[in-house]
Parts: sequence; C-alpha cells; structure tokens
Amino acid sequence: MSMTETPEGPRKTVYIETYGCQMNVSDSELMYGSLAAHGYTPVEAPDGADVILVNTCAIRENAETRVIGRLGELKRFMKADTIVGVTGCMAQRLGPRLLDQAKHVSLVVGPDGYRSLPQLLDGARSGERFSATDFDLEEHYEDVVARRFEGVKAWIPVQRGCNYRCTYCIVPYTRGAERSRKLDDVVRETHDVVAQGLSEIVLLGQTVNSYNDGTHDFADLLRAVAAVDGIRRVRYTSPHPNDFSDRVIAAMAEVPEVCEHVHLPMQSGSTSMLKRMLRRYSREDYLASVERLRNAIPGLALTTDIIVGFPGETDAEFEDTLSLCREVRFNDAFMFKFSMREGTPAERMPAEWTVPDAVVTERFDRLLATVRGISRENNMTRLGARVEVLVEKVARDGTLLQARSRDFKTVMVPAESAKIGDYLTVELTGTTGATFTGTPVRDRAPLPMASPMASPMVSTTA
Ligand code: SAH
Ligand code: SF4
Ligand code: F3S
Repeated sequence: MSMTETPEGPRKTVYIETYGCQMNVSDSELMYGSLAAHGYTPVEAPDGADVILVNTCAIRENAETRVIGRLGELKRFMKADTIVGVTGCMAQRLGPRLLDQAKHVSLVVGPDGYRSLPQLLDGARSGERFSATDFDLEEHYEDVVARRFEGVKAWIPVQRGCNYRCTYCIVPYTRGAERSRKLDDVVRETHDVVAQGLSEIVLLGQTVNSYNDGTHDFADLLRAVAAVDGIRRVRYTSPHPNDFSDRVIAAMAEVPEVCEHVHLPMQSGSTSMLKRMLRRYSREDYLASVERLRNAIPGLALTTDIIVGFPGETDAEFEDTLSLCREVRFNDAFMFKFSMREGTPAERMPAEWTVPDAVVTERFDRLLATVRGISRENNMTRLGARVEVLVEKVARDGTLLQARSRDFKTVMVPAESAKIGDYLTVELTGTTGATFTGTPVRDRAPLPMASPMASPMVSTTA
C-alpha cells in the first residue's frame, strides 16, 4: 500500500505489529479502526511507515524479550520522522521504564489508553515522549469501528480485564478489573460483522463465561449473538472452569450455532498445586466441569492450557497433571514452562520452591509426549468421519487450503475444491496426528435444519 493523497495532503501510514493473545489482535483491529478514522492509512509492513506500533504481551518473560529485540530491529525501517510506539500489556507493565530503555520509542500506551492515540501521535510529532497507562473501567471503545484483517472470522471482545488473581499471572495488573460490554453493543457489532461477509464470531474475555453486563449473563449473550441472521458459528475463549453455570451449559447445548469445542484452561491436575496457583478449583472440581459439559454436549472437543514447573511442583503433583490429561483425553493443549512475573504473588513464594530448569525441561518434554500421544489417538479414531469445515486460508505450503471443523480440528483440503470463506462437507481421509486431510463429499454443506442462513456466504480474503 502507498500513501494516498487527500485534500489535506498525504495521509500518514500506520503499521501495527501484534504479539500475544486474541485480545491483543482485537485491540490492534480497534487501533487500526480508530487511526483510520483520524486520517491514517493502515499498511502491512513497517518499511517507511509514518507510525509503527508494537502491540505487546507480558505473559511470559520470553514474550517480552522478543519485543525488546524486535524494537531494536525496527530502527532500520524508520524514516527521520517515523514515530514508534509500544502498546499492550508490556507497555502497561513497564510504562515510563520503556521510554528510558528504548530512546527511539516516543509513546507507551496501555490497553485502556488507545482512545487518545491520535492526540498522542500529534504530540509525539512535535517531539514529546509520553507514557499513558491509566486504567479506565468504562472503556470498551464502543464508538470505534474495528478494522478487521482476519478473512473469515471476527474476534469480538465482550469483557476486558480479569477479577481472578491466579498467583502466576500478570494479566490482572496489565488489564485491570473485569468489566463487560453491554449485550446490545455486542449484538450490534455482530450485525456489522455479518454485513462485512463474515459468519463466524469468537467472543473474547479472560474469563469470558463470567460475562455479566448487569442485566444479562453469558448464556443470554450466546443466545443473542447466535440469533443474528447470517451467523453460522459462535466460539468463545477463554472460559474459567468455575464460571460454567447450568444456564451457560444449557445455552451451549441448545444453540446450534455454538460450536462443540471448549478451551478449558486446567493449569495443573494437582489439587495442592491448584491451591498455590489460586485457581479456586480442585482436580475433582475440574473433572466435574468436564463431565457436565460432556454430558450436555455430544461430541464436545476439549483443549487446555497447562503450566509446568510452578514453584513447589513436586514429582507427585506433576504426575497428577499427567494423569488428569490421560483421564480427560484433551484434543490438544498449550503447554508452558512457568515464567516468574514481576509483582505477582508467585514472586513472594520461598526461593527453595523454585523448580530447577533441568527438572522443568524433563517434565515439559514428558507432558508434551503424553498430550501429543493422546491427541494422535483421538484423531485416528476420527478417520472416515464426515464433518463440516469452514475454509480459512491458504495453507503454509501454498498448495492446499486450511479449513476448520466445528470442533476446532485443522483440516487441509485441495485448493481446487473451494475458496476461502466456503463451508464444505469433507470426509477425514488422513491425519498427521495433529492435523487432518479431508476430501470434499459435496460442493457445499447443506444448511443446518435448525439454523436457516439468511444470506449466502461471501468469500473474503485477508
Ligand atoms: N485468562 C485465561 C488465560 C490467559 S493467559 C485463563 O484464565 O484461562 C494464557 C495462558 O498462559 C494461561 O492459561 C497459562 O497457562 C499461561 N500463563 C499465564 N501466566 C504464565 C506464567 N507466568 N508462566 C507460564 N505460563 C503462564
Ligand atoms: Fe490470569 Fe487467572 Fe485471570 Fe486467567 S483467570 S487472566 S490466568 S489471573
Ligand atoms: Fe499477553 Fe496481555 Fe494477552 S499479557 S496473553 S497480551 S492479555
């Protein structure tokens, strides 16, 4: 993309590089939208951009190390008047410390400060350097129209912040207290998403199933967004195991658009460890949530997050994590080595609780092998099944298309069989263990009886 002329002169260009979770991806879409409304043109590369923003994550130390390295690299793309800003969770966490550390950075803006970006950029242009990290519990950016880049699905934030205080986690400090958007605002955005030709939405929040706007809970929200004409798939991430009320489970079970997949972070399979993590559930409570979900939703796929090497982790506690994985038989898991974050309660735990790196690595590798093994076995049993997939993008190898089943499996389909944005019915013909290959069995999937589609799919590319 190049600079475009307007009557007021050339439009300035802005490039945003995004790290971290979907919440950050969604925030970048809001920043692009807000800046576009203030005369900026989004561009896809940093080279020569007038404004470069790095939207950062602070969840683990290596996420931050990467950003520090990247900030150095970005210098070579800067023109004399390029403004570099750091946004997101690391900006919130470090504030002015980042300005001291990186002299070519003129702006540091936390997740609740994006509304003032256009003014802050004007200030930076006249040589000022700012750190804006106040929380704003009212801020949902309702008047900002997100500029979406994802081709077929829309991230919709429904809740910001987090009221849990898991002892390892930096998020409550970088995102502030939990607050929910009004249901009507989320529904309005869902209509906008359909008008843009998208039919899948992913509702976002740190403990998204605790959503409550004062009048409506998450069950109401699921029902309301699924009822929007043209919405064919509804997903959400991440729920907390304690916030699955019967109402929420019933909504999942009864609303056909809500996909049969839950990402249910477990963190550990040991009750004593979960207590040190302040997760507020036991191994048995977690299993009970799994059982309630599985009983209500046939064919439910479960994925999870697991931390290895949290302070004080004993061999027995780690074995409990392995055995819970075997018991639940997750379809997949994100696994992390514990990373100590400044200012979290874990920092105040006794130094002798620190698990040596070699032990962490050995446990991590064993967990990885266990999870992958189960996932492979699960996937083998699915061969021959017919599933509906939505084609998301061109696969990395460039010849196949990458599609996604309702239960979140990645399925590669031949490029000539479809285009991005199509729904297909495929037979699962092969698996690498992690992903599938699929052969289309009909041109288009029949419309689900319970959810007539209002508008034909529009194919879009990112
Ligand atoms: N709100 C979500 C998690 C957001 S962070 C939830 O409660 O499920 C995503 C994942 O990062 C967490 O589930 C956890 O597994 C991992 N994580 C968070 N803090 C971490 C830390 N200090 N070290 C290692 N992994 C961490
Ligand atoms: Fe972090 Fe726990 Fe909140 Fe998730 S629920 S964001 S892990 S404090
Ligand atoms: Fe990272 Fe912030 Fe998300 S710390 S995981 S970008 S909420």
